[in-house]
Amino acid sequence: MTRIRAAITGVGGYVPEYRLTNDEISRMVDTSDEWIMTRIGIKERRILKEDGKATSDMGAEAVKQLLIKTNTDPSEIDMIICGVVTPDMLFPATANIIADKTNIRNAFGFDLNAGCSSFLYAITTASKFVESGSHKKVIVVGADKMSSIVDYQDRATCPIFGDGAAAVLLEPTSEDIGIVDSIVQSDGAGRIYLHQKAGGSLKPPTFETIANREHYVYQEGQPVFKWAVSKMADVSVEIMKRNNLTSESLDWLVPHQANMRIIDATANRMGLDKDKVMINIQRFGNTTSATLPLCLWDWESQLRKGDNIILAAFGAGFTWGAIYLKWAYDGKLLNGMARKPEVSKIHTEL
Ligand SMILES: CC(C)(COP(=O)(O)OP(=O)(O)OC[C@H]1O[C@@H](n2cnc3c(N)ncnc32)[C@H](O)[C@@H]1OP(=O)(O)O)[C@@H](O)C(=O)NCCC(=O)NCCS
Repeated sequence: MTRIRAAITGVGGYVPEYRLTNDEISRMVDTSDEWIMTRIGIKERRILKEDGKATSDMGAEAVKQLLIKTNTDPSEIDMIICGVVTPDMLFPATANIIADKTNIRNAFGFDLNAGCSSFLYAITTASKFVESGSHKKVIVVGADKMSSIVDYQDRATCPIFGDGAAAVLLEPTSEDIGIVDSIVQSDGAGRIYLHQKAGGSLKPPTFETIANREHYVYQEGQPVFKWAVSKMADVSVEIMKRNNLTSESLDWLVPHQANMRIIDATANRMGLDKDKVMINIQRFGNTTSATLPLCLWDWESQLRKGDNIILAAFGAGFTWGAIYLKWAYDGKLLNGMARKPEVSKIHTEL
């Protein structure tokens, strides 16, 4: 029997235009460019400022670009999963709203919230449907408008987060490419260190919850930092070992962009040189569900068919994981945005 894998066959992305710089943050709270660069490594982050615009608007822009780049008609999409912690509304799912805005009808669609690991969880989930043969064109979106839940009076959290979205298309392939292996884990005991206190069924919104600023990100930075360093590195090293990958044979690490020091620690444990690590934290900050696909979007033109890539993330929950995949196409773009024709071939054959 032919083994089917799920391959990423295109990437679309979107970041808002407004750049929130460290200098501007230093005028809001008691901090400095020097502190933020040394402790976190972020220079600026994008913020979705327009009234009435939400996570789904960024997700829809990313999906529209993805459909154009992959020459896909919305009617062909049979599944859409949105990794998100800042949905437009508690219900319906942001995936449904994105689908509506991009004219994707009748697709199996839902949101998946695993904190900053949402995209990694979503792509692992989606790959199983593709591998089973039940779904053939699956979009996975990672999108978050973190500025909607960040307290710009809290200097310990407000420099960290930014807004953005990116999306990938997953399709079946029988070639030796695509998603090979994944490790995804969680430990709910970590929830006390990183959460949003009010707005859910435990503490519905009241005047008091608003006065107490309980609708914002609550984070105890040090335990989150320690868990993130150990868990992200542990699973990345484990997935390398069990797939016989070495620091030489691995082409790229795509780490969650939460803190430069966490990225460095993970790369060091894997024995990787920095030039193999995708890092755009200085430009976008931590866009939560969007960090991994935004890296793929940024680096797409440098990627080559067969490249060995590990994606790794850590987030609220706690959740964490790593995925090993072999990249499916040469990133050199044809006609500006079109995908190379040989990529189209891999799924029409199945
Ligand atoms: C948030 C984080 C950058 C804070 O860095 P840290 O080195 O742990 O700093 P601490 O929380 O120990 O605070 C050290 C001091 O810096 C201060 N500080 C915190 N934020 C500051 C800021 N923006 N500017 C200046 N000082 C700041 C604290 O008030 C504290 O001061 P004190 O010693 O007088 O009490 C770091 O803990 C971190 O990155 N954690 C992980 C966060 C993360 O990745 N979250 C997403 C997970 S997916």
